[in-house]
Amino acid sequence: MAEKLAIDGGKKAITSPLPGWPQFNENHFAAALTPLKENAPNYWTNRKGKLPSGKVGSHGMEYEERFARWEGSKFAISSATGTAALHIALGGFRIGPGDEVIVPSYTFIASSMCVLQAGAIPVFADVKPDDHCIDPKSIAKLITRRTRAIIPVHLYGCVCDMDEIMAIARKHKLIVIEDCAEAHGSEYKGRKVGAIGHAGAFSFCQSKHWTTGGEGGMTVTDDEEAAWIMRSFRDHGYDVAKRMSLLELEAHLPYIHRRLGWNYRMTEIQSCLGIYELSRFEKWNKPRRQRNHRILVQELSGHPAVANVQYEDKKKECVFFVFPIILDMSKLRVDIDQVTKALGAEGVPCGPVLWPQSYKEDVYRLNVGQGRNDFPFHSREYSDPKQTAKYKDLALPNAMAYQQNTFFTVCHPLLEPKHMKLIARGIKKVLDAYAK
Ligand SMILES: Cc1ncc(COP(=O)(O)O)c(C=O)c1O
Repeated sequence: MAEKLAIDGGKKAITSPLPGWPQFNENHFAAALTPLKENAPNYWTNRKGKLPSGKVGSHGMEYEERFARWEGSKFAISSATGTAALHIALGGFRIGPGDEVIVPSYTFIASSMCVLQAGAIPVFADVKPDDHCIDPKSIAKLITRRTRAIIPVHLYGCVCDMDEIMAIARKHKLIVIEDCAEAHGSEYKGRKVGAIGHAGAFSFCQSKHWTTGGEGGMTVTDDEEAAWIMRSFRDHGYDVAKRMSLLELEAHLPYIHRRLGWNYRMTEIQSCLGIYELSRFEKWNKPRRQRNHRILVQELSGHPAVANVQYEDKKKECVFFVFPIILDMSKLRVDIDQVTKALGAEGVPCGPVLWPQSYKEDVYRLNVGQGRNDFPFHSREYSDPKQTAKYKDLALPNAMAYQQNTFFTVCHPLLEPKHMKLIARGIKKVLDAYAK
């Protein structure tokens, strides 16, 4: 007989609280204080960075160089948030009004909102039913004469089918911007995600693989011309190349603003935190995350009510942000809401699937854009009625299915194997109790 569930008055599977993520230590405190003690907390004023190249520069420039080396990309451009990092990537490839960008709807809103911020139109693709990632077949069907880019999202740390996506991009001359906000360190055929497409964008928001103090972002690319535009785009449209070359000379800075730009710079406090986190990622953060998710895979694979927990194969190595579990609902007597409620009562950290249908948000349904004319939904560049964005009747079946059959749990590095086993035990207890 199945154990009595905590939600029905039984004993909880997890009785003491599990460690949360993130937790800060003395190294974080020292890192955050460093630029304050140096009286130079701004990207442009600090000169105390230890750049691997030996150049003079700030901690921000050091973080960029170190991140680019770790990532295996030629250039890295730091920014205030992951959303800014995506916007910067689009800006670097001059994607804007009149353009369409194909993006999955099953992702955080920023993956598509960055497209609106750039003045372009997001076109929503469906995902595959077993790995949470954009379906290349769905992409192919959405290409029009306006399509300029694809944003594959490596959701939760799962890895998209990059060979297929890059082949579509090559065929149609499209730019690929990988949204890696949830996938730091995940790899496809031995290359880190973000380094496969034309650009990659990372987030260092509080809950992510690591945080730069609550917010932060990084864009990577191998395209030198795009990288300079990205730096300028991040920085009031400034001629950053010129400014960088003057930095070592401490020369008087001319006022040169070459394009429309934003101020998306990262602070030195954020960069110092990022440098510390990057220094412990490969030896501490990544192996512990992988160990933890693999315990869940081992414990849950083969359970009759589990449809999929195996996202890795010869091509794909995952480092999970949170760990998604796809259920076979035909084997259960209850719906996914009841499953997550019961898991919560057992003390299992969990949540419902994260945002499968972005197109249902008012911003899209009601076309609420910039200004009184709701740019770019209604704009001259986008006035062809046959081409106009229509989100009202959109329904992507695989994205919708995830809403009914998936939840996530945690696998962050502060959790020990004993915690992961307790989590797996709690999950199995709930699934067994609700088995048909
Ligand atoms: C998939 C995805 N893309 C983009 C973002 C945006 O990052 P940020 O919150 O740092 O702006 C996030 C995170 O919140 C995300 O999960």
